[in-house]
Amino acid sequence: MPGMRSQAALPSPPPDALAASQALASRIAQRIRLRGGWIGLDEYMAMALYEPQLGYYAGGSRKFGGAGDFVTAPELCTLFGACLARQCAQWFESCAHRVVEFGAGSGALAVQVLGELDRLGFTDTEYLIVELSGELAQRQRERIARELPQALARVRWLAVWPDAIDGVVLANELLDAMPVRAFARVPGASGQPARVMERGVALARAGAGARR
Ligand SMILES: C[S@@+](CC[C@H](N)C(=O)[O-])C[C@H]1O[C@@H](n2cnc3c(N)ncnc32)[C@H](O)[C@@H]1O
Repeated sequence: MPGMRSQAALPSPPPDALAASQALASRIAQRIRLRGGWIGLDEYMAMALYEPQLGYYAGGSRKFGGAGDFVTAPELCTLFGACLARQCAQWFESCAHRVVEFGAGSGALAVQVLGELDRLGFTDTEYLIVELSGELAQRQRERIARELPQALARVRWLAVWPDAIDGVVLANELLDAMPVRAFARVPGASGQPARVMERGVALARAGAGARR
């Protein structure tokens, strides 16, 4: 609604979340100063999401499911993973019995896919999880150990993308969590050709209004 500030409807974060947010903001500000006043959007996103102990995916708060910040398909229903497992089984006719999941969140999809593949007879399936967040990797391990202990020995965690993959690659709701560089085409002034400039984050000067 015109004139309405959406911020007014948001609840205040609990004190520990607020303290973590302030600590992260000051670490980002420190990095911006260190870099001479500007960092690219990719560096900003990487810190906001993955800065050890403080970033969104590294800070320990509950993120997935009804009690968290957002819900994804594998958290809603086991059918999602079961359907993907059947597709994996078809692909296994022409590749290794291996699934590589990028960004496995709470581990829900891994449990569903491995469980259904077991039911279909693919009990030798190896499952590799590429996960940047150490905290989430730990949660995934605990969940698989709890809900599908017989498969745990076939699951491995990688911190970097493998150079080559023989198997099926899965990723759900991953791309928007990846730090990216952003560029803008800026029209040239008075007959000059347009320029491409990188978008980034700088500190607002004290007293300056919000920038667009
Ligand atoms: C929005 S969550 C989605 C989680 C899960 N796939 C689901 O559907 O519930 C994004 C996930 O991607 C992971 N992630 C982000 N960037 C990544 C990258 N470059 N490589 C691997 N995982 C990444 C995050 O740590 C997190 O587990």
